[in-house]
Amino acid sequence: MEARPVRLSRCVMTEIVIPNDLNGLGNLLGGRLLHWMDLCAAISAQRHTNRVCVTAAVDFVEFRSPIKQGEIVVLESQVNRAFRSSMEVEVNVWAEDPLTRSKRFCNRAFYTFVAVNEEGRPVPVPPVLPETPEEQERYEQAARRRELRLLLSGRLPAEKARRLQAALTELAATASEPPKTNP
Ligand SMILES: CC(C)(COP(=O)(O)OP(=O)(O)OC[C@H]1O[C@@H](n2cnc3c(N)ncnc32)[C@H](O)[C@@H]1OP(=O)(O)O)[C@@H](O)C(=O)NCCC(=O)NCCS
Repeated sequence: MEARPVRLSRCVMTEIVIPNDLNGLGNLLGGRLLHWMDLCAAISAQRHTNRVCVTAAVDFVEFRSPIKQGEIVVLESQVNRAFRSSMEVEVNVWAEDPLTRSKRFCNRAFYTFVAVNEEGRPVPVPPVLPETPEEQERYEQAARRRELRLLLSGRLPAEKARRLQAALTELAATASEPPKTNP
């Protein structure tokens, strides 16, 4: 299957926070935001594969900053890397002030989507072609994150998590190194 550039999977979604989206503190409900993020990520997965894709896992969700009523929520997603039938989709979220248009970064999550056939069974997906240094970095990191999520979900035995082992070995080696500069 021919590799597809990251840019073809990119999705930008814009929402405005209305009273029905709020929790008791007057901030956007976490569940509502996760719903929007899931939709944005699903569009990216389907743009990459031209297939129906389902959410298999969500990890590393952070809510860094509350989003207020009336603010505009901008969600941006892309497929970082594809494996056999699964893909890692990264979603980033900003809140935009409707008066000044200034944006603050609020949230990031990594979704795993799986492309499925009419019976709901996984089917192979095209590889991702990273075209920029940033896309290349995300592509490399995605393989390590995949090992971690498969390890934590019990789908990968620890001894087979080779990328993670290499990363830990590298970290351990640098931990004992003296600082590069003198005081
Ligand atoms: C996702 C689903 C199709 C996977 O089916 P399965 O029988 O586990 O299939 P497999 O074991 O062949 O796994 C398929 C892929 O999913 C990945 N996967 C499955 N569970 C995963 C998890 N918890 N975390 C990360 N990846 C996972 C596997 O690693 C595999 O990836 P690969 O093909 O790229 O190597 C199935 O679990 C399902 O239908 N889940 C419900 C999806 C759903 O309803 N989502 C919410 C609504 S959209």
